Amino acid sequence: MFIIKTEKARSFLDDGEWQQASQMVRKASETLDNRTGKGTEWLGWQNILTRPNDALLENMEAIGSEIYKKADVFIICGIGGSYLGARAVIKALTPEFMDEGPEILYAGHHISGPYMLQLLEHLEKPKADGNTKQVYLNVISKSGTTMETAIAFRVLRKWMHDRYGDEAVSRIFCTTSKKGGALNKIIQAYGYRRFILPDDVGGRFSVLTPVGLLPIAAAGIDVNQLFYGAVESYRQLDKNRENLLDYVATRLALYRKGYAIDLVGTFEPALVSLGGWLQQLYGESEGKNGKGLFPSVAQYTTDLHSLGQMIQDGPRNILETFLTINNPGTSLRVNNDPRDYDGLNYLSGKSFEEINEKAFQGTCQAHHEGGVPIFVGILDNCDAESIGHAIYYFEMATALFVYATGENPFDQPGVEAYKKAMYQLLDREA
Ligand code: PA5
Repeated sequence: MFIIKTEKARSFLDDGEWQQASQMVRKASETLDNRTGKGTEWLGWQNILTRPNDALLENMEAIGSEIYKKADVFIICGIGGSYLGARAVIKALTPEFMDEGPEILYAGHHISGPYMLQLLEHLEKPKADGNTKQVYLNVISKSGTTMETAIAFRVLRKWMHDRYGDEAVSRIFCTTSKKGGALNKIIQAYGYRRFILPDDVGGRFSVLTPVGLLPIAAAGIDVNQLFYGAVESYRQLDKNRENLLDYVATRLALYRKGYAIDLVGTFEPALVSLGGWLQQLYGESEGKNGKGLFPSVAQYTTDLHSLGQMIQDGPRNILETFLTINNPGTSLRVNNDPRDYDGLNYLSGKSFEEINEKAFQGTCQAHHEGGVPIFVGILDNCDAESIGHAIYYFEMATALFVYATGENPFDQPGVEAYKKAMYQLLDREA
């Protein structure tokens, strides 16, 4: 279950401002339901939930658990929507310091030479017991042509074939669209296993397709629970979306009032990458024709010691969206120290959870009093089902907000500009 509380944001609006935005969002909701808006050919993220493909989930589970058992290192090679969803779920649902299952590494999400070199060196290094690492690779690219991913895959493919010879073919998994550009040619030539991202699902909406499901399963996470969490969210929001409509209307009214930045903050490091996924979902969907809130991510309390001053006292155009967990389920308590040199015995016996909760409440109070509207997103538990809920909730929120601003939530024409300039500088034509 996932909901967003809006009281501490709504208090910055008068009734008229909220009513106007609410009407716009209700209209957007009709547009989405009637499939009459821009980009309706990309509503596959909803279609996949109306008729769950259990055979696909089973297949993802089977291949994922094979990788989970056999791999020492599993590399996810992709950028933007092709890796952010998987990373968000994996970071949320696996321990920070893993001693079971494969080490999950990322590639193809930038072009840093030092990073790639260090990654290759890491793959070469034997394990503590002296044996070589068992490496598996999942390359993910809908277009099959994205340069960051393609050159990382070229280098890693060579490494895999040098290391494993013909057996590399069974260790490389490719996820792409049916057309899939150059990647499909490579898959055909080498005979790698291929998984298809449906044409009607855009990259940043694709975490519940093989794009996200395969790497998530390979990290040992129950993809059924995740997927059916999203299905449950779909069914609930189909019947009653008052909380969602209120959230989107409040956010829209604040945007129309001049708020420009949506800072997604969390007091749980496990949820920072969920914020990163949301940053892309909101940013790439909203930022068109001069419109949209600039999304950013912060980890608290860490970033209260870097951004805190700006949030409390800087320009009053920031709103905050907190991601919280109802039951974080930790039991660690602060120990008593008879000498109490650090003066912390007033906290003895208190759990970290309790102290972190007070830090959250204190931050909300201070920021709210300092003029920052605050949304509080609440996950019931930090489990696959609740994360599935949150994923669909935010996908809906994105579609509704962007429709209400009159734009297409599902395209990203602006991303091409840097590619064009980069290709020119690289003499791609030549
Ligand atoms: O959301 C999107 O569509 C983008 O962020 C893409 O996922 C990203 O550009 C990667 O594209 P591709 O999967 O084609 O390599």
